Amino acid sequence: MGIISKDIGIDLGTSNIRVHVRGKGIVLSEPSVVAINKITGEVLAVGNQAKEMLGRTPDNIVALKPLKDGVIADFGATKMLMQTLIQKVTQKNIFSKPRLVISIPSEITDVEERAVEGVAYKAGAKEVYLMEEVMAAAIGSGIKIEKPEGAMVIDLGGGTSEMAVLSLGGIVVSKSIKVAGDKLDKNIVDYIKQNFNIIIGEGEAEELKKQIGSASASMTEEKVQVKGRNLTTGLPETVTVSSKDINLAINDSLNEILRCIKQALEETPPEIAADIMERGIVMTGALSHLKNIDRFISDEVGMPVFISENPERSVIKGVGLALDNIEVLKKSTKIRKDNRRF
Ligand SMILES: Nc1ncnc2c1ncn2[C@@H]1O[C@H](COP(=O)(O)OP(=O)(O)OP(=O)(O)O)[C@@H](O)[C@H]1O
Ligand SMILES: [Mg+2]
Repeated sequence: MGIISKDIGIDLGTSNIRVHVRGKGIVLSEPSVVAINKITGEVLAVGNQAKEMLGRTPDNIVALKPLKDGVIADFGATKMLMQTLIQKVTQKNIFSKPRLVISIPSEITDVEERAVEGVAYKAGAKEVYLMEEVMAAAIGSGIKIEKPEGAMVIDLGGGTSEMAVLSLGGIVVSKSIKVAGDKLDKNIVDYIKQNFNIIIGEGEAEELKKQIGSASASMTEEKVQVKGRNLTTGLPETVTVSSKDINLAINDSLNEILRCIKQALEETPPEIAADIMERGIVMTGALSHLKNIDRFISDEVGMPVFISENPERSVIKGVGLALDNIEVLKKSTKIRKDNRRF
């Protein structure tokens, strides 16, 4: 069956889990969703297959997203998700347990951090290393973090938006806010409810965001039809929603993210701010695909903004690079090894 890989990197995201196997690269990227039989506790599906079941399950099955706001909300389901995916990438023929490097949000609490480690050990890890997401995002975007020149990275994901100013291999300023893709979806559901009197699912809201969502009210207005349930009659109804509607729905949340970026910049020492001004801010995370988000931020903060190549993969790319240098990194502060056993 070929090589038995013992080092695995995981980006345990609120929306997507991505896995890197040392020597193989990114081998998997699937939605962070698990479908479980409520009676037997058996895992019926994970990832793409489970996502299709969201909102469509009979009484005995539950399809859920075990991570919320970048942290573990359901310990058991996260363990099952991680275990299933580790088995999938190691083709079940692993003889020795893997070493794991897992990315975590920077403002995670001790309890939340321990939950990640606990899940990893329960899922079969031999050793667990934690790496800050923003650090991984920077490395994965090709930023030479060891250099004295300052850099800023903004990671816009599903559960959290994280921003960090880095210099000389360390984090100088970091901010995190629980306003990201999921919140925008909720904003869209609420807006449609209030303005069209219909209720749509968060999955439909996400599709609207991807299709016609924009961070700035664009000149050309796009329209799409959406199916929902009329709140008064309880019957299915189709309405036409425009890009302007979506922009109005998500505007407040985008401004919250913006305020956070501005705060981070205000706390940045002037020398480093000058470096960022010159090099530009780097954006990662799948929400960076939102139309005009780069321009919106750039106009508001008055600095150039660049979207990383394949922004949804920056974090796992950075984790993968750390994994390749695990022996070197073990001696540095980039990754932390936990000594607790579960
Ligand atoms: N084309 C697109 N336009 C707008 N939003 C998008 C697009 N593609 C994906 N997204 C959004 O990006 C978000 C997921 O981003 P990502 O996969 O980086 O998150 P994550 O790493 O799982 O979450 P987190 O880092 O917050 O724990 C979702 O809200 C998704 O709807
Ligand atoms: Mg992420």
